[in-house]
Amino acid sequence: MALQARRGRFITFEGPEGCGKSTQVRLLRGRLEALGRPVTQTREPGATALGVAVRQLLLGTDQLQLVPETEAFLLSADRAQHVAEVIRPALAAGHVVLSDRHVDSMLAYQGYGGGMDLTSLTHLASIATGGLAPDLTVLIDLDPTISLARRHASSSAGGEINRFDRRALAFHHRVREGFLMLAAGEPDRFIVIDGALGVEEVAETIWSAVQPTLGGQYAGRTRTAAQLPLFDVTQFELCAIVS
Ligand code: TYD
Repeated sequence: MALQARRGRFITFEGPEGCGKSTQVRLLRGRLEALGRPVTQTREPGATALGVAVRQLLLGTDQLQLVPETEAFLLSADRAQHVAEVIRPALAAGHVVLSDRHVDSMLAYQGYGGGMDLTSLTHLASIATGGLAPDLTVLIDLDPTISLARRHASSSAGGEINRFDRRALAFHHRVREGFLMLAAGEPDRFIVIDGALGVEEVAETIWSAVQPTLGGQYAGRTRTAAQLPLFDVTQFELCAIVS
């Protein structure tokens, strides 16, 4: 009987609007693919058919006056579908999954920003994810005055300004502090990078953090039970016993 490890790696990118997440996701994807690693690039909200509808409800209009609780339920519906349809299958196929936002955004925006209770949000998140957690979370930290200025500059060039971008500066300061508190609480999962640095410097720092996460020679391969280190069995959940 052989023990087959089929789990890829799950890396999330978090931070305020305009912090450069999308650029960094793209750069990391290029680096991983150049090494021959299969990558699934995705985002929240909006990566599934349901997610597109949620995104439209959540970000597409100012007509709906959504309270943070409604936002959290909509985002959790998006997330549950995202985990089931996109993330788990990709991890099972051995992909490195790069998600532009995930649970920490809900804790930062609806929790720290919107004032919702963090324990309830964490419970909601665990229902949506079924307990799946990122192997690594890249937090690109940026002062909201800079991030919002960047966002507004990009909107002059055709970029999207959403309901969250239009919130008061105080809200964005709370979101930033929230992200930093979350990172401080889980230093093994998070890497925090100064988003005011240049694109290349940020990319290099991310690459240094990602490499150990990839798991070296064993990642994505079929192994016998004897070859599989014990920590892999306990840490990575999608190991299947095959005969
Ligand atoms: P998006 O246009 O994808 O913004 P960005 O480029 O900044 O990622 O819009 C996503 C917005 O949704 C963003 O303002 C943050 C917000 N959001 C939450 O409030 N909670 C969440 O759980 C998630 C995933 C996103």
